[in-house]
Amino acid sequence: MSISDVIRKRRSVRSFDGTPLRDEDIQKLMAFAAQADNPYQLPIRWQLLNAKQTGLSSPVIVGEDAFLAGTMQRVPFAEEAFGYSFEQIVLFAASIGVGTTWIAGTMDRAAFERAAGVAEGEVMPCVTPLGYPAKKMSFRETVMRKGVRADSRLPFETLFFEGSFGRPLSPDNACKLHDALETVRLAPSAVNKQPWRTVVCGDRVHFYEKRGKPLAEGAWDIQKIDMGIALCHFALAAQESGIPVSFLREDPGLAHGTDTFYIASYQLEG
Ligand SMILES: Cc1cc2nc3c(=O)[nH]c(=O)nc-3n(C[C@H](O)[C@H](O)[C@H](O)COP(=O)(O)O)c2cc1C
Repeated sequence: MSISDVIRKRRSVRSFDGTPLRDEDIQKLMAFAAQADNPYQLPIRWQLLNAKQTGLSSPVIVGEDAFLAGTMQRVPFAEEAFGYSFEQIVLFAASIGVGTTWIAGTMDRAAFERAAGVAEGEVMPCVTPLGYPAKKMSFRETVMRKGVRADSRLPFETLFFEGSFGRPLSPDNACKLHDALETVRLAPSAVNKQPWRTVVCGDRVHFYEKRGKPLAEGAWDIQKIDMGIALCHFALAAQESGIPVSFLREDPGLAHGTDTFYIASYQLEG
């Protein structure tokens, strides 16, 4: 399956069938996680936590076999780096039939952090349950999906722009970037807020975060995890469409709203 097919097919899985993960799937997942990189080059420690042995659970998840937790130093760009690396693992899991759900809130965070051995100065931004999707969603899962309108996304023209924030980009005008941007549009985000906005300027694509609520300088920003996911989708899908890209942080100085913040850019090579 191509990356864009995996992205189109992935959804959060909150109801699992209770089957233990096959050893070969665990090995594939952990081997993949060990080499999952991010453009900020920040290392992340991945741990598989068996649900029964640890007693860990989430109130919105049923039938999971294990959880995957990622721990890293709490440093600048940790959120984006974590989003980028974790999403690669989420997509890999989907490609081998293992279900996941990004979880930042609906868990007993202290219990997970204890089980993962999170130390002073470290952060464990999110975990995901792992298992094989159940044939039928639980009632709670169905209600949750409705609550966050999990099957819908903002229109292309609301998210993407050309040259400036004043010029919305339509799917028909996106040309060779259409597929890569569409995979950004379809990305998962916390409470399905979709904070990513991009402006295509010549051979650069600039990514911005549209912040839901004001945050103090340097405060932990969960929406930056979403931004890491968006960067990941764009880079993977662009490469797949035959567009090599390179990552850079160079604010182009475009005019934007006070709720909008520059995150990073991709340079289209060739
Ligand atoms: C950073 C992040 C945190 C999330 N936290 C939770 C969570 O705590 N509990 C939960 O049930 N879903 C959580 N989600 C899943 C989103 O609700 C879900 O991705 C979104 O509604 C879109 O649905 P989909 O993943 O099925 O496409 C989170 C997603 C992201 C990206």
